[in-house]
Amino acid sequence: MKTAIITGASSGLGREIVRQIADVFPEVESYWLIARRIGCLDALAEDLTGKTTACLPLDLCDPMSYVAFQEKLTAEQPEVVLLVNCAGCGYLGNVGEMDTATQTRMVDLNVRALTAVTNMTVLYMPEGARILNISSIAAFCPTPRMTVYSSTKAYVSAYTAGIGEELRRRKITATEVCPGPMTTAFLEIGGISGNSRIFELLPYCDQVRVAKGALQAARAGQSVYTPKLLYKFFRVLAKVTPRSLMVKFTKT
Ligand SMILES: NC(=O)c1ccc[n+]([C@@H]2O[C@H](COP(=O)([O-])OP(=O)(O)OC[C@H]3O[C@@H](n4cnc5c(N)ncnc54)[C@H](OP(=O)(O)O)[C@@H]3O)[C@@H](O)[C@H]2O)c1
Repeated sequence: MKTAIITGASSGLGREIVRQIADVFPEVESYWLIARRIGCLDALAEDLTGKTTACLPLDLCDPMSYVAFQEKLTAEQPEVVLLVNCAGCGYLGNVGEMDTATQTRMVDLNVRALTAVTNMTVLYMPEGARILNISSIAAFCPTPRMTVYSSTKAYVSAYTAGIGEELRRRKITATEVCPGPMTTAFLEIGGISGNSRIFELLPYCDQVRVAKGALQAARAGQSVYTPKLLYKFFRVLAKVTPRSLMVKFTKT
């Protein structure tokens, strides 16, 4: 059965992507929705009428979840035409001033889980399949006060470009999405709301539009999708400007 697997499906951008998959990937017959909050996944699944859905309540920071995911893949042998790695978190705080578990959680979820889920899933992907990895404008340059977060997203960007090349011969594409701030639970969870001047100044991206653009970019096999002209410009600027200079201006 043609399957889409989406991590971080319970809220925010991930949920919007799930809602719009049928518009861009009408061939998808089955959805695997992954996040910790099973109630949110079940509610979303109810809206996906006419589709087969599996809600997997996995904590992707727990390596045991990889075992459960692998067992599900082995048992079901899905034909995964779309993988969306959207689960992510980002916490505001300087090095040494935030507890270690919070800092490493960003690495566990944004880097380790994305790597593990992709590595396991790619074996079930046919020719023409698509991988969509949610990165951030924070990937373009280290952002002091969110240094760990921006470093994890730099990994997502580099990883996506690398696997895109590795998978070229299998005609599977990988797309990284680099949105600016979006009004989702991410901001509250990360302690960003009300505590970051730059987040108050930057223009916000609408997650409904980002979801649509991201899916269309994946369908087209684009390697990168950055919503908004300003952030496209920022991407280029960060490429041509010495990092030591950029970090003077990117503090969150
Ligand atoms: N919002 C922004 O300003 C912004 C900007 C650029 C990029 N992004 C990126 O966009 C992506 C989606 O974030 P969002 O803005 O939509 O925030 P969100 O609403 O907080 O969504 C985060 C998703 O990740 C899941 N998640 C968190 N911890 C998890 C864990 N341990 N195991 C499994 N799933 C987990 C959450 O589900 P559960 O809580 O149910 O587990 C939720 O579905 C992230 O990768 C984020 O880095 C966000």
